[in-house]
Amino acid sequence: MIYPIRAYGDPILRAECKKIEENDEFLKKLISDMYETMDASDGVGLAAPQIGKNLRLFTVDSTHFPDEEGGVRQAFINPVIIEEHGEEWEFEEGCLSIPEIRENVSRPPKLKIQYITEDWESKTEVFEGLTARVIQHEYDHIEGILFTDHLSAFKKQLLKGKLSNISRGKVNVRYRMKFPKRR
Ligand code: NI
Repeated sequence: MIYPIRAYGDPILRAECKKIEENDEFLKKLISDMYETMDASDGVGLAAPQIGKNLRLFTVDSTHFPDEEGGVRQAFINPVIIEEHGEEWEFEEGCLSIPEIRENVSRPPKLKIQYITEDWESKTEVFEGLTARVIQHEYDHIEGILFTDHLSAFKKQLLKGKLSNISRGKVNVRYRMKFPKRR
């Protein structure tokens, strides 16, 4: 099932998400729906709050980045970023919840993350490059943080009108979305 993507301004995108307690049929279906929704919108990542679920879960697909060796396509359940390191680098980020806006965000290039896999196994892994970048962006989502929060006050001010239009549904987007202020 393909869910509509929650747009900027939806309170669910500001929630600190809850831990998943159980590996049940509901979770399996949710993860499969998240892959389907991410693929339908050509996303490289999708966090549960973006489809209205207040849960610490995201999917990542970094296999399509042209310069990325390997890349991953996997789900992260109850992830915890243990450490990030390296000199911060800028990369132009976008977000399915914030269509038509792309801005440079600085983040460290490497991270170590602990999470539960789809097979309900605890794992600690190191990621770098664009895969790490997508993980950092999705991890922010489950903490209620959006990439626009990382921008300067000046940039935020410049984007104010566009962001307000997105929350009202005044945006051209190819995939299905749910807008908080559409009348
Ligand atoms: Ni996003």
